[in-house]
Amino acid sequence: AADEEVVGTVKDQLAKLFEESLRVTVPDQTDTDPLIAACNPRFGDYQCNNAMSLWTKIKGTGSAFTGPQPVGQAIMTNLPRSEMIESCSIAGPGFVNVKLSRQWIAKSIQKMLIKGIETWSPKLRVKRAVVDFSSPNIAKEMHVGHLRSTIIGDTLARMLEFSNVEVLRRNHVGDWGTQFGMLIEFLFEKFPNMEVVSDQAIGDLEASENLFRKLFIYKCSSTYSKVLVYCILGNKVVKVSSVKHWYTVPDNGAFYKASKQRFDSDPGFKERAQQAVVSLQGGKEKYRKAWSQICEISRKGYEKVYQRLGIVLEEKGESFYNPYIPGVLEELGKKGLIEESEGARVIFIEGKKYPFIVVKSDGGFNYASTDLTALWSVNLLLLLYRYRLNEEKAEWMIYVTDVGQREHFEMLFTAAKRAGWLPPGDNSYPKANHVGFGLVLGEDGKRFRTRSTEVVKLVDLLDEAKSRCKAALVERGKAEEWTEEELEQTAEAVGYGAVKYADLKNNRLTNYTFNFDQMLNDQGNTAVYLLYAHARICSIIRKSGKDVEELKKTGALVLEHPNERALGLHLLQFAEIVEEACTNLLPNVLCEYLYNLSGHFTTFYTNCQTSPNRWCCQSLVAFVLWGQRRRQADSCCVKRLQRSCGN
Ligand code: ARG
Repeated sequence: AADEEVVGTVKDQLAKLFEESLRVTVPDQTDTDPLIAACNPRFGDYQCNNAMSLWTKIKGTGSAFTGPQPVGQAIMTNLPRSEMIESCSIAGPGFVNVKLSRQWIAKSIQKMLIKGIETWSPKLRVKRAVVDFSSPNIAKEMHVGHLRSTIIGDTLARMLEFSNVEVLRRNHVGDWGTQFGMLIEFLFEKFPNMEVVSDQAIGDLEASENLFRKLFIYKCSSTYSKVLVYCILGNKVVKVSSVKHWYTVPDNGAFYKASKQRFDSDPGFKERAQQAVVSLQGGKEKYRKAWSQICEISRKGYEKVYQRLGIVLEEKGESFYNPYIPGVLEELGKKGLIEESEGARVIFIEGKKYPFIVVKSDGGFNYASTDLTALWSVNLLLLLYRYRLNEEKAEWMIYVTDVGQREHFEMLFTAAKRAGWLPPGDNSYPKANHVGFGLVLGEDGKRFRTRSTEVVKLVDLLDEAKSRCKAALVERGKAEEWTEEELEQTAEAVGYGAVKYADLKNNRLTNYTFNFDQMLNDQGNTAVYLLYAHARICSIIRKSGKDVEELKKTGALVLEHPNERALGLHLLQFAEIVEEACTNLLPNVLCEYLYNLSGHFTTFYTNCQTSPNRWCCQSLVAFVLWGQRRRQADSCCVKRLQRSCGN
C-alpha cells in the first residue's frame, strides 16, 4: 500500500488526538507522549493514562491544577472534536476512558474493505530487517528444532513484510567447518571410485527416483537421500542393488554419525580428515567438488521441506562469510577486544563464565567468528569491504534458534556493542534480537523422538499430518465428491497448517507437546477449527448470492447489536495486534487474535440473525482471517473446504 494509505493502529489514531489535547493542557511539557492502552470494556474501549505522571511532574511548579484528576479532566475537555469518539469519561486518578463511535468503526472497516487489508498494516520503525531462521546443518539431520525455527521465522518474516518492512530471509546453514574434512574423507574412503556427475545425470537419477522408491521402499527406511548419495557415486540406478552401504545424508545423519565414529576411532583417518580440511580450504578442485556435492544433497532435501511448507528463504551459509572473517577479526583486534587465552583468541564478556572464542586454539574459525562476520556484514557502518555487504545494511537482526543458544547470542550482541557495531542498550537501532524457542516434546513429556530413539524426521511428520487429514476427508466421503488432486491439496493445506499452527499458538519460549490428535481436532484452538470457520464464512457469503465486491462499495455497514460492535472493534484492532506481535516477536499473539476473532464471529452470527449487515461482517472476517495476499493454491484449497462444510 502506498504509505499515505496506511492508517496505522487505532492507538496511533487516538494518540494523535491526545497529543493535541496534551499540547493545550500542559503547554510547557512538550516531550509528553500520549500513553494509550486498551481498557476495561465496562468503561470504554481505550484509555489515556497521562494524567498521573503529568501531575507528578507539574505539582509544586506553580501549576493551576490541584491533582491528577483535574489534569485528566482537562485532557478530556481539550480533546479536539473527532468522529472517532462517541463518549469519554474520567476514572480514578485521571484516566480518560474513550468509547469509540460505532459509526466510525463501521466506516473504518468499510474503508479497509474497499482499499485493502494493507491499509491496516502497522507502522514500524524499521524499514529493513534480517530474519535468520531454519538454518540447519549440512549432513546432519534437520530435526524438529529446525522445524520450529522454520515455522516461527517464516511467520515473523511474513508479519514484518505485512508491516512494510523489507525482510532479508536468511538461511544461515552450517555448511563450513572442520567436520567437512571428515565427511569428505569418509566419502572418498567408502566410495573410492567416486566420480563427479553432471547436473544432467543427477536430473536423470531424480527422474528415476519414483521407480527407485518402489524398488527399495521395503528395504530402506529412507529412500530419497540414498538416491542422491548414489548420484555422488556416479553409477547408474540399475546397479543400485549391488551397493552395500547406504548412508542417508540429510535425513537422519547416519552418514555423519558413521564418519564421526571413524574419525574418533582411527587416528590415521583423523589425520587424513584434517588434511582434507586444509585441501578444501586451500580450494583444491576435488575437495571443493565433494564438498559442494555433499551440500547439494542436503540442500535438495531441505528444498523439499520448504516447498511443502511454502517457505521462501535465501541461503547464505557459513561458507559465504568465511573469506571475510580475517578482516573482521582484525577490526576487533584493533579495537582491543580480542585477547589470548589458552592458545585461543577470545573476547571476554563481563558476567560470563566462559569467554567468547573467536579463533580456536588450532587456529580455525568457528560458529562465533562466522556470526560476528555475518552480523558485521549486515550492519556495516564502515565502508571497508565490498559494496554488496554494505548494501545489506539492516536495522533489525533477528535470529531464530532454540533457547539453548541464548548465551551464544548474548555474547555475540555484547561483543558487537563493544565493537560499536550496535548501539548500547536494547532499545536503539540498529538492534539485534535472539528469538529463542523451547523444545518439542513427545507425549511422554520427554524430548520428541521416534520409537527407534532416533530424532524425528521432518519429512515423516509432514507425511503423517497429511495422510491423517486425507484419511479424515475420505471418512467423510470426500473421495467420491472430489478429484484426487483436490483431496491431496486439501489434506496438505489442513495437515501442514495444523503442524504450523500448533507450534505458533504457544508462547515460543515454552516447550510444546507434539500431538497429532490434538492439532488435527476440528474443535478448539487449532488450524482445522480456524480453516473451517473461514470456509464456513466464505460459504455463507457465496450462498447469499450477493455480489460482495459491489456491496463493499454501496452497502452501508451498521453496528447496532453489542455483538456486532464487538466483532467490528475486534477487527479494527488487527493492526495493533500485528504491531504487538512484531515488536515483541511473538506469533502467538496473532494466533490468539484469530482464535478470538472466530469466537466473536460465531457469537455475532448466532445472536444477530436479522442484522442487515451480516454480509459485510462475514466478508471481512473472511478477508482478515485469510489475508488478501493468499496464494493461488490457498484459495483453491479454500474452495475445497467450502464445499466440504455443510453451511
Ligand atoms: N546452524 C545452527 C543450528 O542448527 C543455527 C544457526 C542460526 N543462525 C546463526 N546465525 N547462528 O543450530
